[in-house]
Amino acid sequence: MNLAIIGLQWGDEGKGKIVDLLAKDYNYIVRYQGGNNAGHTVDVDGFEFVFHLLPSGVLHPKKIGVISDGVVINPKELLKEMALLEEKGITPNLYISLGCHLIMPYHIFIDGVIEKNQKIGTTMRGIGPAYIDRVGRCGIRMADLLDEKLFVEKLELNLLQKEYILKEEFKQEEIRSEYLSLFERIKPYLVDTRAVLNKAIADSEPILFEGAQGTLLDIGFGTYPYVTSSHTTVGGISVGTGIPANRISEIMGVIKAYTTRVGEGPFPTELKEDTGENLRMKGREYGATTGRPRRCGWLDLVAARYATEVNGVNSLVITKLDVLSDLPKIKVCTEYRMNGKPCEFQPWISDWSEIEPVYIEFPGWCRDIGNIKEYSELPMEARDYLEAIEGVLGVKISLVSVGARRDQTIKL
Ligand code: GDP
Ligand code: IMO
Ligand code: MG
Repeated sequence: MNLAIIGLQWGDEGKGKIVDLLAKDYNYIVRYQGGNNAGHTVDVDGFEFVFHLLPSGVLHPKKIGVISDGVVINPKELLKEMALLEEKGITPNLYISLGCHLIMPYHIFIDGVIEKNQKIGTTMRGIGPAYIDRVGRCGIRMADLLDEKLFVEKLELNLLQKEYILKEEFKQEEIRSEYLSLFERIKPYLVDTRAVLNKAIADSEPILFEGAQGTLLDIGFGTYPYVTSSHTTVGGISVGTGIPANRISEIMGVIKAYTTRVGEGPFPTELKEDTGENLRMKGREYGATTGRPRRCGWLDLVAARYATEVNGVNSLVITKLDVLSDLPKIKVCTEYRMNGKPCEFQPWISDWSEIEPVYIEFPGWCRDIGNIKEYSELPMEARDYLEAIEGVLGVKISLVSVGARRDQTIKL
């Protein structure tokens, strides 16, 4: 059985915790899109680790982490993350695709130049510019570094093409020698991950696909242009790994019990006053990659219904329910209205300020739920809240997370 874990909001839904929790039942854990813009936090017995590029399942010994073709890699950051794990005594088993595109120093620079004019609030990791080059057919892949002459030709072309932005900023020779030396350290991990994963499927070895970012940040189906530059939806798996779409057997959608967003862009249920601040404090809502405060708001089930449909979600995980524990009243958006008329979530809505969220209100449970292990032990108000989510989304909940640790998870 091959499982996909996909965020259904604007990222940071708690995917890392869920991937780590479920990884024990899978042989391969695969990152298939995005890059080190991701920040996936795993908390094992008080040991907290934030994964950016490595799959979150690699804390389990004997599991194989895979970084497949759809991921853009900053080689320096990858090696840094591996070194951090090594310091903790963990040497991950890792396969990296020869087809992965590289984030080059000029991509990070260009991210900053673009951001000056077009405020998206990116993570400034060079993700967008690296994907621009991939689509523009001038990107540099891992495999290109196997042939130094080819690499130098491609590097020269890229620096020439971008001269109007880069000016004198980057020296070809410096990049050449830095990347060739980084490449030597990454080379042992490089394989044809497409072939490895398809063989795993043929041998009935289970695979877990770890989504990065969230559905509403998808380049095609998110709140464009306030999105990331990859396909964060389930379709990203097939094009990011070379695995046929019909080999993904279960799609698990992860939703935080409220909503957060980092960076610019529409957020109809955003709370700008004390309640938002309270959620940020209680939920420790600060970016795992950039440390920026996350914008917080009520759960938006209109957007979540859309995300559920786009991904064909067959089971739900609700995370951070504990963060709502001290609120006397909790609101959930179940409908959007525009000029008084109901409307659906659509990625091309141009003026989101016209969208008026319609809420239903739930009584809070006002007690700590962080140690509850059984669904039936949750306060009735919390169960009503969860069942309302199931009702609106038309999908069953399989896991409820009530704290960051592995053991703070309720199976349904
Ligand atoms: P991801 O990007 O989707 O993996 O999520 P992040 O790691 O960026 O953000 C989720 C944060 O919430 C992390 O700090 C997790 O340790 C934490 N977390 C995950 N699940 C829970 C939960 O159920 N309750 C609480 N209080 N924290 C959680
Ligand atoms: P995880 O995997 C939350 C956001 C950025 C910005 C937009 C574009 O931890 O859920 P980019 O650097 O990708 O070009 O930035 O996307 N963003 C995320 N927001 N969680 C993430 O990852 C994100 N990765 C990118 O804040 O708004
Ligand atoms: Mg995150």
